[in-house]
Amino acid sequence: MKGLILAGGLATRLRPLTHTGAKQLIPIANKPVIHYVVEDLANAGIKEIGIIVGYDKDRIASIVNSVGDGSNWGVKVTYIEQDAPRGLAHAIGIAEGFMGGEDFVVYLGDNMIKSGIKSFVENFKKDRPICSLLLAKHDQPQKFGVAVFDELGNVVHVEEKPENPKSNYVITGIYIFTSDIFDAIKRIKPGKGGELQITDAIKLLVDDPDKIVTCHKVQGWWDDAGTAEAILNANYMVLMDIVPEIKGNISADSKVLGKVGVGENTIIHENCYVKGPVVIGNNCEVGPNTYIGPYTSIGDNCKIKGGEIESSIIIGNTTVDLENGEKIIHSLIGKHSKIISRKNSVPKGGVFVLGENSELKL
Ligand code: G1P
Repeated sequence: MKGLILAGGLATRLRPLTHTGAKQLIPIANKPVIHYVVEDLANAGIKEIGIIVGYDKDRIASIVNSVGDGSNWGVKVTYIEQDAPRGLAHAIGIAEGFMGGEDFVVYLGDNMIKSGIKSFVENFKKDRPICSLLLAKHDQPQKFGVAVFDELGNVVHVEEKPENPKSNYVITGIYIFTSDIFDAIKRIKPGKGGELQITDAIKLLVDDPDKIVTCHKVQGWWDDAGTAEAILNANYMVLMDIVPEIKGNISADSKVLGKVGVGENTIIHENCYVKGPVVIGNNCEVGPNTYIGPYTSIGDNCKIKGGEIESSIIIGNTTVDLENGEKIIHSLIGKHSKIISRKNSVPKGGVFVLGENSELKL
């Protein structure tokens, strides 16, 4: 069995963070989302992985730079370029040659699941259906592909983002296909937005009386890290289970409580309070007089001085200098940002230099 990670697309919901970078590289607990995906496929015994990248040369280079040839995970990675965002089914269709007739797991490059895919893969190998869908219960099924299954666990109906969902089980971005999916993809027509929908191709298999499509339910949480809120939620879930390791230096006048990871060459100056779960990357300087609260990830090369940060992700190379003790919460801050206190501020108010499609809550 092979793996296929879909990492094309422009991730418009995550602008401005994704104006230049790929969303699959946004870090959760200081590790890019796509690394969790490769790791999960490798843990399920998959050795050969195709990654569908888009057409933007910079984005492709950043993904290739981050994942490389896969040897860090003991797998072989092949990159496959998609000439334009033509839908998930198109992205899967162009991997037909790479699959060479084998069964394969498709994993959307921004999906994260706590339990991993091992039991999903094992069940597929045992039952040998034509295709199997990984489902998760969701309170807003209309935002996803929705599946209805019978008492045997066989899928009897699928629909993409229905107004009136017939079930509250959504199709996560993780599927196992046999090569039959390629014929189905060739038979579908573009749907909304002119894109080929994978759910339409799956529907052809579901509606074929000679074929069985099974499903497997996610144990624990699943996240489609497509929005800032979902990314912060994933950060929260992953940080809960981190194994803390302190490599940097912590001043004896500072307090570090709970699960806290501190990277190499990172200094925590005096009068700081770091309350885990928290991860702080390499080459950072924190403090003096700074509070870093639970569920915060701070990437490499950051300078954080004064103020309070909680439940946030600071991706890296960022300066935060809050001499008036301001507080940053539930925030997702891109690379090379600068957040400082306003001096002698009359009249009172924030001063912003914001990129396109930014979002501020005051
Ligand atoms: C895609 C699929 C949808 C699935 C979702 C999971 O939607 O079309 O069926 O439920 O991924 O993340 P998209 O996120 O591209 O809108």
